[in-house]
Amino acid sequence: EQSRQIAKTLSEFRLTTEQLLEVKNRMRIEIQNGLSKSTHDTATVKMLPTFVRRTPDGSENGDFLALDLGGTNFRVLMVKIRSGKRRSVEMHNKIYAIPLEVMQGTGEELFDHIVHCISDFLDYMGMKNARLPLGFTFSFPCQQTSLDAGILVTWTKGFKATDCEGEDVVGLLRDAIKRREEFDLDVVAIVNDTVGTMMTCAYEEPTCEVGLIAGTGSNACYMEEMKNIEMVDGDEGRMCVNMEWGAFGDNGCLDDFRTEYDRTVDDLSLNPGKQRYEKMCSGMYLGEIVRNILIDMTKKGFLFRGQISETLKTRGIFETKFLSQIESDRLALLQVRSILQHLGLDSTCDDSIIVKEVCGTVSRRAAQLCGAGMAAVVDKIRENRGLDHLNITVGVDGTLYKLHPHFSRIMHQTVSELAPKCTVKFLLSEDGSGKGAALITAVGCRLRDELN
Ligand code: BG6
Ligand code: GLC
Repeated sequence: EQSRQIAKTLSEFRLTTEQLLEVKNRMRIEIQNGLSKSTHDTATVKMLPTFVRRTPDGSENGDFLALDLGGTNFRVLMVKIRSGKRRSVEMHNKIYAIPLEVMQGTGEELFDHIVHCISDFLDYMGMKNARLPLGFTFSFPCQQTSLDAGILVTWTKGFKATDCEGEDVVGLLRDAIKRREEFDLDVVAIVNDTVGTMMTCAYEEPTCEVGLIAGTGSNACYMEEMKNIEMVDGDEGRMCVNMEWGAFGDNGCLDDFRTEYDRTVDDLSLNPGKQRYEKMCSGMYLGEIVRNILIDMTKKGFLFRGQISETLKTRGIFETKFLSQIESDRLALLQVRSILQHLGLDSTCDDSIIVKEVCGTVSRRAAQLCGAGMAAVVDKIRENRGLDHLNITVGVDGTLYKLHPHFSRIMHQTVSELAPKCTVKFLLSEDGSGKGAALITAVGCRLRDELN
Protein backbone atom coordinates (compact mmCIF):
# COMPACT_ATOMS: atom_id res chain seq x y z
CA GLU A 1 0.00 0.00 0.00
CA GLN A 2 2.80 2.38 0.94
CA SER A 3 4.74 1.78 -2.25
CA ARG A 4 1.55 2.14 -4.27
CA GLN A 5 0.91 5.57 -2.76
CA ILE A 6 4.48 6.68 -3.33
CA ALA A 7 4.26 5.54 -6.93
CA LYS A 8 1.02 7.49 -7.29
CA THR A 9 2.58 10.70 -6.01
CA LEU A 10 5.56 10.37 -8.32
CA SER A 11 3.44 9.44 -11.32
CA GLU A 12 2.13 13.00 -11.46
CA PHE A 13 5.68 14.04 -12.34
CA ARG A 14 6.03 11.60 -15.20
CA LEU A 15 5.18 13.24 -18.51
CA THR A 16 4.41 11.33 -21.68
CA THR A 17 5.80 12.33 -25.05
CA GLU A 18 2.33 13.62 -25.99
CA GLN A 19 2.28 15.85 -22.92
CA LEU A 20 5.76 17.15 -23.68
CA LEU A 21 4.73 17.90 -27.25
CA GLU A 22 1.83 19.84 -25.81
CA VAL A 23 4.27 21.85 -23.67
CA LYS A 24 6.35 22.54 -26.78
CA ASN A 25 3.25 23.72 -28.68
CA ARG A 26 2.15 26.00 -25.87
CA MET A 27 5.62 27.50 -25.64
CA ARG A 28 5.41 28.18 -29.35
CA ILE A 29 2.12 30.06 -28.86
CA GLU A 30 3.59 32.14 -26.02
CA ILE A 31 6.65 32.98 -28.15
CA GLN A 32 4.31 34.35 -30.80
CA ASN A 33 2.35 36.34 -28.22
CA GLY A 34 5.55 37.93 -26.93
CA LEU A 35 6.73 38.90 -30.41
CA SER A 36 3.47 40.38 -31.72
CA LYS A 37 2.56 43.99 -31.05
CA SER A 38 -1.11 43.22 -30.42
CA THR A 39 -0.42 40.67 -27.68
CA HIS A 40 2.98 41.78 -26.31
CA ASP A 41 1.65 43.80 -23.37
CA THR A 42 -0.17 40.88 -21.80
CA ALA A 43 2.26 38.18 -22.93
CA THR A 44 3.95 36.15 -20.20
CA VAL A 45 6.99 35.09 -22.24
CA LYS A 46 8.19 38.63 -22.89
CA MET A 47 10.64 38.07 -25.80
CA LEU A 48 12.71 41.13 -24.86
CA PRO A 49 14.84 42.75 -27.58
CA THR A 50 18.54 42.97 -26.65
CA PHE A 51 19.92 45.25 -29.39
CA VAL A 52 22.57 42.64 -30.09
CA ARG A 53 22.37 42.28 -33.85
CA ARG A 54 25.05 39.76 -34.62
CA THR A 55 27.28 37.14 -33.07
CA PRO A 56 31.05 37.81 -32.84
CA ASP A 57 33.18 37.73 -36.00
CA GLY A 58 36.68 37.96 -34.52
CA SER A 59 37.10 41.67 -35.24
CA GLU A 60 36.34 42.60 -31.62
CA ASN A 61 39.24 44.27 -29.88
CA GLY A 62 40.14 46.13 -26.70
CA ASP A 63 40.27 45.94 -22.91
CA PHE A 64 37.02 45.79 -20.98
CA LEU A 65 35.57 45.43 -17.53
CA ALA A 66 32.62 43.13 -17.04
CA LEU A 67 30.23 42.53 -14.17
CA ASP A 68 28.32 39.30 -13.82
CA LEU A 69 25.38 39.51 -11.41
CA GLY A 70 22.45 37.18 -10.86
CA GLY A 71 23.79 33.62 -10.82
CA THR A 72 25.40 31.66 -8.01
CA ASN A 73 28.42 33.96 -8.04
CA PHE A 74 28.86 37.68 -8.48
CA ARG A 75 32.03 38.36 -10.45
CA VAL A 76 34.00 41.34 -11.59
CA LEU A 77 36.15 40.65 -14.64
CA MET A 78 38.80 42.23 -16.77
CA VAL A 79 38.68 40.94 -20.34
CA LYS A 80 41.38 41.63 -22.95
CA ILE A 81 40.25 40.83 -26.47
CA ARG A 82 42.62 40.82 -29.42
CA SER A 83 41.37 40.66 -33.00
CA GLY A 84 42.99 39.40 -36.16
CA LYS A 85 44.61 36.16 -37.22
CA ARG A 86 45.87 35.33 -33.75
CA ARG A 87 42.78 36.51 -31.98
CA SER A 88 42.65 35.78 -28.31
CA VAL A 89 40.81 36.53 -25.10
CA GLU A 90 42.53 36.88 -21.75
CA MET A 91 40.45 37.09 -18.57
CA HIS A 92 41.03 37.91 -14.94
CA ASN A 93 38.21 37.70 -12.46
CA LYS A 94 37.36 37.80 -8.82
CA ILE A 95 34.26 36.40 -7.12
CA TYR A 96 32.47 38.44 -4.48
CA ALA A 97 29.73 37.47 -2.08
CA ILE A 98 26.40 39.25 -2.09
CA PRO A 99 24.98 38.87 1.40
CA LEU A 100 21.29 38.03 1.65
CA GLU A 101 20.61 41.35 3.41
CA VAL A 102 22.02 43.12 0.36
CA MET A 103 20.08 41.00 -2.17
CA GLN A 104 16.90 41.84 -0.33
CA GLY A 105 17.75 45.28 1.06
CA THR A 106 17.45 48.63 -0.70
CA GLY A 107 18.50 49.21 -4.29
CA GLU A 108 21.03 51.81 -3.16
CA GLU A 109 22.69 49.32 -0.83
CA LEU A 110 22.84 46.72 -3.59
CA PHE A 111 24.42 49.04 -6.16
CA ASP A 112 26.77 50.60 -3.59
CA HIS A 113 27.92 47.09 -2.77
CA ILE A 114 28.50 46.32 -6.46
CA VAL A 115 30.56 49.48 -6.90
CA HIS A 116 32.49 48.67 -3.73
CA CYS A 117 33.42 45.31 -5.31
CA ILE A 118 34.48 47.02 -8.55
CA SER A 119 36.68 49.35 -6.48
CA ASP A 120 38.30 46.40 -4.73
CA PHE A 121 38.86 44.68 -8.09
CA LEU A 122 40.47 47.75 -9.65
CA ASP A 123 42.83 47.95 -6.64
CA TYR A 124 43.59 44.27 -7.00
CA MET A 125 44.41 44.74 -10.70
CA GLY A 126 46.29 47.98 -10.00
CA MET A 127 44.22 49.98 -12.47
CA LYS A 128 42.22 52.51 -10.49
CA ASN A 129 42.88 55.24 -13.02
CA ALA A 130 41.95 53.50 -16.25
CA ARG A 131 38.56 54.54 -17.55
CA LEU A 132 37.52 51.29 -19.16
CA PRO A 133 34.32 50.50 -21.02
CA LEU A 134 32.13 48.14 -19.02
CA GLY A 135 29.66 45.41 -19.95
CA PHE A 136 27.12 44.52 -17.29
CA THR A 137 25.75 41.00 -17.27
CA PHE A 138 22.56 41.41 -15.30
CA SER A 139 20.60 38.16 -15.26
CA PHE A 140 17.08 39.48 -14.82
CA PRO A 141 14.36 40.61 -17.24
CA CYS A 142 15.09 44.07 -18.62
CA GLN A 143 13.07 46.06 -21.11
CA GLN A 144 15.80 47.51 -23.33
CA THR A 145 15.54 50.50 -25.63
CA SER A 146 19.22 50.40 -26.58
CA LEU A 147 22.36 48.44 -25.75
CA ASP A 148 23.01 50.58 -22.67
CA ALA A 149 19.53 51.08 -21.22
CA GLY A 150 17.43 48.44 -19.51
CA ILE A 151 14.46 48.85 -17.22
CA LEU A 152 14.15 46.03 -14.68
CA VAL A 153 10.76 44.45 -15.33
CA THR A 154 10.73 42.41 -12.14
CA TRP A 155 13.23 40.72 -9.84
CA THR A 156 13.40 36.94 -10.11
CA LYS A 157 15.22 34.14 -8.25
CA GLY A 158 16.54 35.25 -4.83
CA PHE A 159 16.71 39.02 -5.39
CA LYS A 160 14.26 41.53 -4.02
CA ALA A 161 16.04 44.86 -3.51
CA THR A 162 13.65 47.81 -3.22
CA ASP A 163 13.34 50.73 -5.66
CA CYS A 164 14.82 48.90 -8.66
CA GLU A 165 11.81 47.51 -10.51
CA GLY A 166 10.73 49.94 -13.20
CA GLU A 167 14.13 51.70 -13.07
CA ASP A 168 16.93 51.76 -15.63
CA VAL A 169 19.56 49.48 -14.15
CA VAL A 170 22.40 51.18 -16.03
CA GLY A 171 21.28 54.47 -14.48
CA LEU A 172 21.31 52.88 -11.01
CA LEU A 173 24.86 51.64 -11.60
CA ARG A 174 26.06 55.01 -12.93
CA ASP A 175 24.49 56.79 -9.93
CA ALA A 176 26.28 54.47 -7.52
CA ILE A 177 29.60 55.07 -9.32
CA LYS A 178 29.02 58.84 -8.96
CA ARG A 179 28.12 58.49 -5.27
CA ARG A 180 31.45 56.84 -4.59
CA GLU A 181 33.43 59.67 -6.28
CA GLU A 182 36.43 57.44 -6.70
CA PHE A 183 36.60 56.40 -10.34
CA ASP A 184 34.80 56.82 -13.59
CA LEU A 185 33.50 54.02 -15.79
CA ASP A 186 31.85 53.96 -19.15
CA VAL A 187 28.87 51.58 -19.01
CA VAL A 188 28.36 50.51 -22.62
CA ALA A 189 26.08 47.49 -22.51
CA ILE A 190 23.63 45.63 -20.30
CA VAL A 191 23.49 41.95 -21.13
CA ASN A 192 21.35 39.03 -19.99
CA ASP A 193 23.32 35.91 -18.99
CA THR A 194 21.69 33.87 -21.79
CA VAL A 195 22.94 36.43 -24.31
CA GLY A 196 26.41 36.56 -22.75
CA THR A 197 26.57 32.77 -22.89
CA MET A 198 25.44 32.64 -26.53
CA MET A 199 28.11 35.21 -27.45
CA THR A 200 30.84 33.44 -25.46
CA CYS A 201 30.11 30.21 -27.31
CA ALA A 202 29.60 31.88 -30.69
CA TYR A 203 33.11 33.33 -30.50
CA GLU A 204 34.39 29.74 -30.81
CA GLU A 205 31.54 28.28 -32.84
CA PRO A 206 29.78 30.51 -35.41
CA THR A 207 26.75 28.21 -35.71
CA CYS A 208 25.85 29.10 -32.11
CA GLU A 209 22.74 31.28 -32.32
CA VAL A 210 20.92 30.20 -29.17
CA GLY A 211 21.82 30.65 -25.50
CA LEU A 212 20.47 28.51 -22.66
CA ILE A 213 20.84 28.78 -18.90
CA ALA A 214 19.93 25.85 -16.67
CA GLY A 215 21.18 27.11 -13.35
CA THR A 216 19.72 28.99 -10.41
CA GLY A 217 17.15 30.18 -12.94
CA SER A 218 16.08 28.94 -16.37
CA ASN A 219 16.01 31.02 -19.54
CA ALA A 220 16.94 31.13 -23.22
CA CYS A 221 17.73 33.60 -26.01
CA TYR A 222 18.16 33.24 -29.77
CA MET A 223 18.68 35.20 -32.97
CA GLU A 224 15.20 36.17 -34.21
CA GLU A 225 14.35 37.83 -37.53
CA MET A 226 13.94 41.60 -37.13
CA LYS A 227 10.73 41.49 -39.13
CA ASN A 228 9.20 39.21 -36.49
CA ILE A 229 10.14 41.46 -33.57
CA GLU A 230 7.23 43.85 -33.87
CA MET A 231 8.24 45.91 -30.83
CA VAL A 232 11.40 47.14 -32.60
CA ASP A 233 11.43 49.24 -35.77
CA GLY A 234 13.16 47.86 -38.84
CA ASP A 235 12.85 44.67 -40.85
CA GLU A 236 16.42 43.95 -41.86
CA GLY A 237 18.59 41.27 -40.37
CA ARG A 238 18.29 39.68 -36.96
CA MET A 239 18.38 40.60 -33.31
CA CYS A 240 18.95 38.45 -30.26
CA VAL A 241 15.79 38.12 -28.16
CA ASN A 242 15.95 37.40 -24.43
CA MET A 243 12.90 35.17 -24.12
CA GLU A 244 12.50 35.24 -20.31
CA TRP A 245 10.88 31.86 -20.68
CA GLY A 246 10.95 31.33 -16.92
CA ALA A 247 7.61 33.18 -16.84
CA PHE A 248 6.02 30.61 -19.18
CA GLY A 249 2.85 29.40 -17.44
CA ASP A 250 2.21 32.59 -15.46
CA ASN A 251 -1.11 32.93 -17.32
CA GLY A 252 -2.15 29.46 -16.13
CA CYS A 253 -1.32 27.66 -19.36
CA LEU A 254 0.77 25.03 -17.55
CA ASP A 255 -1.61 24.50 -14.66
CA ASP A 256 -2.67 21.06 -15.86
CA PHE A 257 0.95 19.90 -15.50
CA ARG A 258 1.62 21.47 -12.12
CA THR A 259 1.32 19.33 -8.99
CA GLU A 260 0.31 20.37 -5.49
CA TYR A 261 4.04 20.45 -4.68
CA ASP A 262 4.70 22.94 -7.46
CA ARG A 263 1.95 25.12 -6.07
CA THR A 264 3.38 24.95 -2.54
CA VAL A 265 6.87 25.87 -3.76
CA ASP A 266 5.37 28.79 -5.68
CA ASP A 267 3.29 29.98 -2.71
CA LEU A 268 6.32 29.95 -0.38
CA SER A 269 8.59 31.77 -2.84
CA LEU A 270 9.62 35.44 -2.95
CA ASN A 271 7.50 35.92 -6.07
CA PRO A 272 4.29 33.86 -5.84
CA GLY A 273 2.50 33.30 -9.13
CA LYS A 274 5.54 34.34 -11.15
CA GLN A 275 8.17 32.33 -13.03
CA ARG A 276 6.08 29.15 -12.90
CA TYR A 277 8.01 27.25 -15.58
CA GLU A 278 11.32 28.30 -13.95
CA LYS A 279 10.03 26.91 -10.67
CA MET A 280 9.56 23.50 -12.34
CA CYS A 281 12.94 23.40 -14.08
CA SER A 282 15.68 25.38 -12.39
CA GLY A 283 18.19 24.67 -9.66
CA MET A 284 16.86 27.16 -7.15
CA TYR A 285 13.55 25.30 -6.94
CA LEU A 286 14.14 21.60 -7.68
CA GLY A 287 15.38 20.94 -4.16
CA GLU A 288 12.33 22.73 -2.80
CA ILE A 289 9.99 20.50 -4.78
CA VAL A 290 11.85 17.48 -3.44
CA ARG A 291 11.66 18.80 0.11
CA ASN A 292 7.92 19.34 -0.11
CA ILE A 293 7.35 15.84 -1.45
CA LEU A 294 9.47 14.42 1.38
CA ILE A 295 7.51 16.40 3.96
CA ASP A 296 4.28 15.05 2.57
CA MET A 297 5.55 11.47 2.51
CA THR A 298 6.85 11.82 6.06
CA LYS A 299 3.48 13.14 7.21
CA LYS A 300 1.90 10.06 5.71
CA GLY A 301 4.39 7.96 7.66
CA PHE A 302 6.29 6.59 4.64
CA LEU A 303 9.62 8.20 5.49
CA PHE A 304 11.92 9.12 8.37
CA ARG A 305 9.75 7.11 10.78
CA GLY A 306 7.08 9.73 10.37
CA GLN A 307 9.20 12.40 12.09
CA ILE A 308 9.45 15.79 10.39
CA SER A 309 12.79 17.15 11.56
CA GLU A 310 13.73 20.83 11.77
CA THR A 311 16.04 20.26 8.84
CA LEU A 312 13.23 19.08 6.64
CA LYS A 313 11.32 22.23 7.53
CA THR A 314 14.24 24.42 6.43
CA ARG A 315 13.88 26.13 3.07
CA GLY A 316 16.68 25.70 0.56
CA ILE A 317 18.46 22.72 2.17
CA PHE A 318 18.59 20.66 -1.00
CA GLU A 319 20.94 22.70 -3.13
CA THR A 320 21.68 21.58 -6.69
CA LYS A 321 25.01 20.14 -5.60
CA PHE A 322 23.31 17.82 -3.08
CA LEU A 323 20.69 16.64 -5.56
CA SER A 324 23.52 15.99 -7.99
CA GLN A 325 25.41 13.93 -5.42
CA ILE A 326 22.35 11.96 -4.37
CA GLU A 327 21.58 11.09 -7.99
CA SER A 328 25.10 10.17 -8.94
CA ASP A 329 25.15 6.55 -10.15
CA ARG A 330 28.58 6.02 -8.69
CA LEU A 331 27.23 6.51 -5.22
CA ALA A 332 26.24 3.54 -3.09
CA LEU A 333 23.09 3.87 -1.03
CA LEU A 334 25.22 4.05 2.07
CA GLN A 335 26.73 7.24 0.70
CA VAL A 336 23.28 8.64 -0.04
CA ARG A 337 22.48 8.00 3.58
CA SER A 338 25.60 9.80 4.69
CA ILE A 339 24.68 12.85 2.56
CA LEU A 340 21.24 12.88 4.17
CA GLN A 341 22.89 12.45 7.55
CA HIS A 342 25.11 15.40 6.75
CA LEU A 343 21.98 17.45 6.04
CA GLY A 344 20.64 16.37 9.41
CA LEU A 345 18.22 13.77 8.08
CA ASP A 346 18.38 10.46 9.89
CA SER A 347 17.47 7.88 7.28
CA THR A 348 17.07 4.15 7.02
CA CYS A 349 18.19 2.25 3.96
CA ASP A 350 14.61 2.24 2.66
CA ASP A 351 14.37 6.00 3.18
CA SER A 352 17.44 6.61 1.08
CA ILE A 353 16.03 4.54 -1.77
CA ILE A 354 12.85 6.60 -1.74
CA VAL A 355 14.70 9.93 -1.50
CA LYS A 356 16.86 9.03 -4.46
CA GLU A 357 13.80 8.08 -6.49
CA VAL A 358 12.05 11.34 -5.61
CA CYS A 359 15.10 13.36 -6.67
CA GLY A 360 15.39 11.43 -9.92
CA THR A 361 11.75 11.93 -10.80
CA VAL A 362 11.76 15.66 -10.12
CA SER A 363 14.99 16.33 -12.02
CA ARG A 364 13.91 14.18 -14.98
CA ARG A 365 10.74 16.22 -15.37
CA ALA A 366 12.82 19.42 -15.15
CA ALA A 367 15.15 18.27 -17.92
CA GLN A 368 12.22 17.19 -20.10
CA LEU A 369 10.31 20.45 -19.63
CA CYS A 370 13.44 22.43 -20.44
CA GLY A 371 13.96 20.24 -23.52
CA ALA A 372 10.37 20.83 -24.63
CA GLY A 373 10.95 24.60 -24.45
CA MET A 374 14.16 24.31 -26.42
CA ALA A 375 12.46 22.15 -29.04
CA ALA A 376 9.96 24.98 -29.59
CA VAL A 377 12.81 27.47 -30.04
CA VAL A 378 14.85 25.50 -32.57
CA ASP A 379 11.75 24.62 -34.59
CA LYS A 380 10.81 28.30 -34.67
CA ILE A 381 14.27 29.17 -36.01
CA ARG A 382 13.97 26.40 -38.61
CA GLU A 383 10.61 27.74 -39.78
CA ASN A 384 11.95 31.33 -39.81
CA ARG A 385 14.55 30.18 -42.29
CA GLY A 386 12.16 28.10 -44.37
CA LEU A 387 14.26 24.97 -43.89
CA ASP A 388 13.23 21.32 -43.91
CA HIS A 389 16.18 20.64 -41.68
CA LEU A 390 18.16 22.92 -39.38
CA ASN A 391 21.64 22.43 -37.96
CA ILE A 392 22.26 24.69 -34.99
CA THR A 393 24.38 25.06 -31.87
CA VAL A 394 23.09 26.07 -28.45
CA GLY A 395 25.54 27.65 -26.00
CA VAL A 396 24.72 26.48 -22.46
CA ASP A 397 25.72 27.38 -18.93
CA GLY A 398 24.42 26.95 -15.39
CA THR A 399 25.09 24.79 -12.34
CA LEU A 400 22.20 22.42 -13.01
CA TYR A 401 23.47 21.66 -16.51
CA LYS A 402 27.07 21.38 -15.37
CA LEU A 403 26.78 19.54 -12.06
CA HIS A 404 23.79 17.27 -12.38
CA PRO A 405 24.62 13.72 -13.50
CA HIS A 406 21.55 13.25 -15.76
CA PHE A 407 19.95 16.63 -16.53
CA SER A 408 21.94 17.42 -19.68
CA ARG A 409 21.51 13.97 -21.23
CA ILE A 410 17.75 13.86 -20.65
CA MET A 411 17.35 17.42 -21.92
CA HIS A 412 19.31 16.64 -25.12
CA GLN A 413 17.26 13.48 -25.69
CA THR A 414 14.02 15.38 -25.27
CA VAL A 415 15.04 18.02 -27.80
CA SER A 416 15.92 15.45 -30.43
CA GLU A 417 12.66 13.58 -29.81
CA LEU A 418 10.45 16.67 -29.94
CA ALA A 419 12.27 18.51 -32.74
CA PRO A 420 13.26 15.73 -35.15
CA LYS A 421 13.81 18.18 -38.00
CA CYS A 422 16.64 19.89 -36.15
CA THR A 423 20.11 18.65 -35.37
CA VAL A 424 21.04 20.49 -32.22
CA LYS A 425 24.55 20.61 -30.80
CA PHE A 426 25.02 21.78 -27.23
CA LEU A 427 28.19 23.64 -26.43
CA LEU A 428 29.09 24.19 -22.79
CA SER A 429 30.28 27.70 -22.08
CA GLU A 430 33.65 27.38 -20.41
CA ASP A 431 34.05 31.05 -19.60
CA GLY A 432 30.68 32.16 -18.27
CA SER A 433 28.79 35.09 -19.70
CA GLY A 434 31.31 37.80 -18.76
CA LYS A 435 33.36 37.09 -21.87
CA GLY A 436 30.25 37.46 -24.05
CA ALA A 437 29.37 40.72 -22.29
CA ALA A 438 32.87 42.03 -23.13
CA LEU A 439 32.44 41.01 -26.78
CA ILE A 440 29.14 42.88 -26.93
CA THR A 441 30.78 45.89 -25.28
CA ALA A 442 33.53 45.83 -27.92
CA VAL A 443 30.95 46.04 -30.71
CA GLY A 444 29.03 48.73 -28.80
CA CYS A 445 32.16 50.89 -28.49
CA ARG A 446 32.96 50.52 -32.17
CA LEU A 447 29.45 51.44 -33.30
CA ARG A 448 29.53 54.49 -31.05
CA ASP A 449 32.91 55.59 -32.42
CA GLU A 450 31.64 55.21 -35.97
CA LEU A 451 28.65 57.46 -35.21
CA ASN A 452 30.83 60.20 -33.70
C1 BG6 B 1 27.37 31.69 -15.49
C2 BG6 B 1 27.15 33.10 -15.90
O1 BG6 B 1 28.38 31.13 -16.23
O2 BG6 B 1 26.16 30.99 -15.58
C3 BG6 B 1 26.19 33.70 -14.90
O3 BG6 B 1 28.34 33.82 -16.04
C4 BG6 B 1 24.92 32.93 -14.99
O4 BG6 B 1 25.97 35.03 -15.10
C5 BG6 B 1 25.22 31.51 -14.67
O5 BG6 B 1 23.89 33.50 -14.24
C6 BG6 B 1 24.03 30.65 -14.55
O6 BG6 B 1 24.40 29.69 -13.64
P1 BG6 B 1 24.00 29.62 -12.11
O7 BG6 B 1 23.84 28.16 -11.94
O8 BG6 B 1 25.17 30.15 -11.36
O9 BG6 B 1 22.75 30.38 -11.91
C1 GLC C 1 15.87 34.19 -14.40
C2 GLC C 1 16.02 35.59 -14.95
C3 GLC C 1 16.63 35.56 -16.35
C4 GLC C 1 17.90 34.74 -16.34
C5 GLC C 1 17.65 33.36 -15.77
C6 GLC C 1 18.90 32.51 -15.70
O1 GLC C 1 14.92 33.51 -15.15
O2 GLC C 1 14.77 36.24 -14.97
O3 GLC C 1 16.88 36.86 -16.81
O4 GLC C 1 18.39 34.64 -17.63
O5 GLC C 1 17.10 33.49 -14.46
O6 GLC C 1 19.87 33.08 -14.86
